[in-house]
Amino acid sequence: MPVDFKAWRAASQTRAENALNQWLPAAHILPARLHNAMRYAVLGGGKRVRPLLVYAAGSALGVEMAALDGPACAVELIHAYSLVHDDLPAMDDDDLRRGKPTCHKAFDDATAILAGDALQTLAFYILAHDPAMRAGASARLQMVEALALASGSRGMVGGQAIDLAAVGRTLNLPELEDMHIHKTGALIRASVALGALSNQQLDHDIFHRLDHYSRCIGLAFQIRDDILDIESDTVTLGKTQGADIARNKPTYPSLLGMAEAKQRARNLYQEALECLAPLDARADPLREIAAYIVQRIN
Ligand code: IPE
Ligand code: IPE
Ligand code: MG
Ligand code: MG
Ligand code: MG
Repeated sequence: MPVDFKAWRAASQTRAENALNQWLPAAHILPARLHNAMRYAVLGGGKRVRPLLVYAAGSALGVEMAALDGPACAVELIHAYSLVHDDLPAMDDDDLRRGKPTCHKAFDDATAILAGDALQTLAFYILAHDPAMRAGASARLQMVEALALASGSRGMVGGQAIDLAAVGRTLNLPELEDMHIHKTGALIRASVALGALSNQQLDHDIFHRLDHYSRCIGLAFQIRDDILDIESDTVTLGKTQGADIARNKPTYPSLLGMAEAKQRARNLYQEALECLAPLDARADPLREIAAYIVQRIN
């Protein structure tokens, strides 16, 4: 029976929300302001694309959902931390995120910095500790390694550094692509890797195919983000439309033009689908997520 993607997505988003709620310290636990800020930054918003990818990649290989909650939370916590820091005055200086004031606006800059720091370490705590994960010590270590690499200076943080250094400069296409692959692609790639690594008997060829899939959709995701910054509106996005142009950020549409940026995203979608060819219907959520990434409106 073909998967009802919308129902699968809604159920998986709820699942991730519940798991995140469980892992985050309760709001009354001291230091309460910090824990409130962490909960504010993570809960009740966002598309949860990275948890969806963990669930979809694991499910494609027959891993049960309960074993995937921990890795799904870990990547989302890193992502939420990256958004909190990305929005700070010293970075993109944004006031709106996920339809509400950014963390530093709702709290203050120092609390937002600390909340981001603490979200990051909570991610690695979960991978080391979560009893529901079936993975043994060596698989957990591989997950920690993959997520650390994807998050740090050779991954997301490195991409953010390239982004800040590029403001007001003209990048060529390889430079722009390199920035996108790092700031956004790395964590999307890690999401698929963590889902796949949750399988105890991971086939090398299948892992390689899933990895290629994730690199395609990771780049497509940021191309779509750049497109939506121009074509969408603030209410739909839940973040300020036009922020890239206002801050003179190099983007795919600014470099290639809108039509070519969209074509590039479509080509990456096709390439991603081809990677999944040998996988059976259990990989349908991965196929649907790829389509969603290039068609999404927020
Ligand atoms: C926004 O990510 C930042 C980028 C990496 C482009 P998302 O578009 O996944 O944001 P949420 O999690 O849905 O809010
Ligand atoms: C952010 O890219 C990527 C991150 C690592 C957070 P953007 O700066 O384009 O993300 P938005 O548009 O603010 O969500
Ligand atoms: Mg940014
Ligand atoms: Mg930003
Ligand atoms: Mg953006």
